[in-house]
Amino acid sequence: MAEEKTLTVNGQRRAFTTEDDTPLLYVLRNHLGLKGTRFGCGLGLCGACLVLADGRTVYSCDTPVWSVADKEVTTVEGLSAPDRPHPVARALIAGQAAQCGYCMSGIVVAAAELLAGNDDPTEDEVRAALDRNLCRCGAHNRVVRSVLAAAAELRERQ
Ligand code: FES
Ligand code: FES
Repeated sequence: MAEEKTLTVNGQRRAFTTEDDTPLLYVLRNHLGLKGTRFGCGLGLCGACLVLADGRTVYSCDTPVWSVADKEVTTVEGLSAPDRPHPVARALIAGQAAQCGYCMSGIVVAAAELLAGNDDPTEDEVRAALDRNLCRCGAHNRVVRSVLAAAAELRERQ
């Protein structure tokens, strides 16, 4: 039965009404208007829908909303905005990595998780961190170079 629920998303407690087992992705997009998180496969296979739950990436397409009720959810909107782009987003733009761009929000989320714990990753570590992110446009090499550039920028800021 649909009931009112609350969830902490991008630092704000938000209310909505849905079933317990509704995928987090549907809540974000359809109830909370956060369209940056993308629907790709709906099966936990493509990474388009990645968000952070307590700082760890989860596939929002196959995460029931009840399972993150007591966690801090962060979407790409919480990580990056036009007036305060995340270093990864800025590097992806500077590196002209996006073609259609559909995969990019999931990539920003996965790379943000990596760089939060390791600001000097090797290329192999970047490739491993982004292994779940499919890009049908084949932009992977530019994406990897961009994430390495973002890591270098983060180190320079310290
Ligand atoms: S839409 Fe969630 S992994 Fe593809
Ligand atoms: S840029 Fe098109 S799917 Fe990645």
